[in-house]
Amino acid sequence: MTKTASWTPDSWKTKTLRQMPSYDDLQALASVERRLEMLPPLVFAGEARQLKKRLAQVSAGKAFLLQGGDCAESFGEFSANSIRDTFRVLLQMAVILIFGGGLPVVKVGRMAGQFAKPRSEDTETKDGVTLLNYRGDIVNGLAFSAEERRPDPERMIRVYNQSAATLNLLRAFVQGGYSDLHRLHQWNLDFVDKSPQGSRYRDLAGRIEETLRFMAACNITSETSPQIRETEFYTSHEALLLPYEQALSRIDSTTGDWYDVSAHMLWVGDRTRQEDGAHIEFLRGVKNPLGMKCGPSMDRETLLRLVTTLNPDNEPGRLTLIARMGCDKIATALSPLIRALKEEGRVEAWCSDPMHGNTHKAASGYKTRRFDDIMTEIRGFFDVCRAEGVSPGGIHLEMTGKEVTECLGGVSAVTDEGLSSRYETHCDPRLNATQALELAFLIADYIKKTQKA
Ligand code: PEP
Ligand code: CO
Repeated sequence: MTKTASWTPDSWKTKTLRQMPSYDDLQALASVERRLEMLPPLVFAGEARQLKKRLAQVSAGKAFLLQGGDCAESFGEFSANSIRDTFRVLLQMAVILIFGGGLPVVKVGRMAGQFAKPRSEDTETKDGVTLLNYRGDIVNGLAFSAEERRPDPERMIRVYNQSAATLNLLRAFVQGGYSDLHRLHQWNLDFVDKSPQGSRYRDLAGRIEETLRFMAACNITSETSPQIRETEFYTSHEALLLPYEQALSRIDSTTGDWYDVSAHMLWVGDRTRQEDGAHIEFLRGVKNPLGMKCGPSMDRETLLRLVTTLNPDNEPGRLTLIARMGCDKIATALSPLIRALKEEGRVEAWCSDPMHGNTHKAASGYKTRRFDDIMTEIRGFFDVCRAEGVSPGGIHLEMTGKEVTECLGGVSAVTDEGLSSRYETHCDPRLNATQALELAFLIADYIKKTQKA
């Protein structure tokens, strides 16, 4: 894992494997890998480099990263409407952050490939029956039966196809006029429309429209300016299932470098970021922009070694650190890490994932998160960044465009009793559209304050 050790797309196989399924039919696995290797890339290396440039702006404090989407995409929830709804809320959040916070926003979906899940337990027991745990639709099925829980490599092909179809629609939204700023009002979702966040959003859209009218008078319109007509949107997921990621790695003909063309940005999770691990080994060799989750068990020496492995040239935009400490630990756990990087002159940006350190089981038995805990962690993150003199780089959220009831609180006031009404996630609880917009307004205020300071 040293900088000089040679890297190949499969050198991860010589390292410690964690959170990986074991397939019983190795021939079937090999056949899937060969077929994936023949398939066209989902993203282009040039796009990944463009995102790296945008993320370099984030690390310089000149842009803010908005990264969000499902905890786990699934085969069952796949539809044009759910892709559109998540994309639309991300666009709305970006507008709120740009207008309220005054910084450009880099939009990255946890979409078109976010299918593999790390689990705390290998197995799950129900009524005396023990089966393999669910590891995301790319590995096995959620239903509690031996057949569904058996890891099936064919699922990787289905994930590739679903990701390609998702990306196709996202690319159309981005370039086909849907994202035109003149459509701000039409982006409002029916249920959000009726909520207090909806009317705050409508006010904001009204102010932006006034600005657009003024700009049109100056001959800056959708026709003359692609910045008004189109947007930039990137995809990302946790690089967890390494046979899939390896099979989708290609040499870029322009640079001769390896890229993992399954997504623009890939991140390593808090459970698979060990220095001796297969995941760090794989990611150090691909040139995509990377993320690394940092939970409360991360210490400064380990962090310094990991950032050196993943970003040996200290290149801005190559690596984004995503703190997920929990609302009670953020104040104490993050400062020493930020300081360690500052002392070494590192360029990595810090973002906040206020979701994964704040999960608990509700009295009703549902896995949930409190809106207030999420906000407390975000506030703590901004405070620590200000105290340490670094820019808060962005936010990483599990959210959806649908009005699900998975996280407690917010103005939509989801209660423990109400969780069961629309609890649809395949893994972790997501913010619904109203909660996501509410959060965006609050974050925009923090960004504005930071900018002033
Ligand atoms: C996730 O982002 O869904 C995840 C599993 O996060 P973490 O690695 O931070 O636990
Ligand atoms: Co999650």
